[in-house]
Amino acid sequence: MIAERPEVEAAACADDRPSQTIVVIGTGQAGGWAAQTLRSEGFTGRLVLVGEEAHPPHERPPLSKAVLSGAALPETTRLMKPEAFDALGAQWRPNVQVLRIDRAAKLVMLFNGEALPYDKLILCTGGRARRLALPGSDQVQLNTLRTIEDAQALAPALTSGRSVVVVGGGWIGLEVAATARQQGADVVVVETQSRLCERTVPAEISEYLLELHRAQGTRVMLGAGVQGFSRAADGRSEVLLADGSALSCDTIVLGIGLVPNDELAREAGLACEGGVLVDAQCRTSDPDILAAGDVAVTPNPWAGRRLRLESWQNAQEQGIAAARSALGHAVDYQPLPWFWSDQYGMNLQIYGVPTPAHRVVQRGDKASGSFVLFYLAGDVVQAAIGPNAARDLRFARRLIEQRKPVDAERLADLGTPMSKL
Ligand code: APR
Repeated sequence: MIAERPEVEAAACADDRPSQTIVVIGTGQAGGWAAQTLRSEGFTGRLVLVGEEAHPPHERPPLSKAVLSGAALPETTRLMKPEAFDALGAQWRPNVQVLRIDRAAKLVMLFNGEALPYDKLILCTGGRARRLALPGSDQVQLNTLRTIEDAQALAPALTSGRSVVVVGGGWIGLEVAATARQQGADVVVVETQSRLCERTVPAEISEYLLELHRAQGTRVMLGAGVQGFSRAADGRSEVLLADGSALSCDTIVLGIGLVPNDELAREAGLACEGGVLVDAQCRTSDPDILAAGDVAVTPNPWAGRRLRLESWQNAQEQGIAAARSALGHAVDYQPLPWFWSDQYGMNLQIYGVPTPAHRVVQRGDKASGSFVLFYLAGDVVQAAIGPNAARDLRFARRLIEQRKPVDAERLADLGTPMSKL
């Protein structure tokens, strides 16, 4: 039963309370940064962190790499040292799911029956790995990779002599494939589109990633539709493809995208469109409720449209921005999108949002393993992508942010240092 009464009364007396209450839902990276920032910006009121995960705020990028390979312990992903987390003086509610948000009474209702009053609410609910409901889905184990538990469950399966089929040739699929190959497993990637990471990178980078994976011995099948799954007589799993063939393996991993956890917001009547719509100050359609991280759809001036950014950068920076906004210290949040991925020791970084309309200028030789592709509108660099080129890309970021016209020939010339541009 939900113990509504006492808390409703507490909310009704909000004006009598000595200080305000801010509730953060979601204890991933965005929620963790929101909490830290509230305190560092001087918020001394009651701070409540509600998270369905068992862990304190942590970062996810290592989960598909170092944690998955066993090179790092899950604890190393923590955003804050335990002492720093304690020093926040937050009421941390792990393993707790929020049932609904009562905007009229300004209460967060928990599944365990509690009702938490709030003055400001920050939604950092992130997303969950998309699943496939196809014939035979219940006959095999369909692993996904999003949480610490996912990484721990999958890690023992990625060893020499074991075979893995990765469904989805996006970031998660490719990072899991790379980790599995490095652990000695046989790996097949099945991608439904005609190229890898089609959602997020231009064709020339898809081509580069394809060559990289094939060179490492990963089999990549493009334009391959999955029709279902089955359990073979020998106990192995089978991935059934649209062309009638079947891939037999020990382990199946789905890396087929992220579903934003926006149900609470939708049920509370907040404006949502593939995530929670927020303005440049991270406010939802209810000014007392803010949202940040993977779940938030934000106007992005660099893209000229709203974007839901799924990235480490956005989780951190928007978590910070939402906390500031909740305290009335807002500045417009207008990040130049930045994303990276590590695969087989290769580090790929992307700044900005490349589009097919951009002119492409290449700096460096693909065969060398380190190059940058610049995406220009007129003479102005709008985006840049490259493997193993972190230094040049830092300069590229400045070029993009300064919107300074550049000479394409000099940009392409390795003899001209980026610092001179
Ligand atoms: N069969 C094969 N491939 C599929 C299917 C399917 N049924 N459905 C989708 N795909 C492919 C898509 O075409 C796409 O290439 O799966 C890929 C999913 O890639 P992303 O959209 O990049 O999503 P994912 O890799 O799951 O990553 C989710 O987690 O860590 C973050 O940055 C990462 O934002 C990313 C998120």
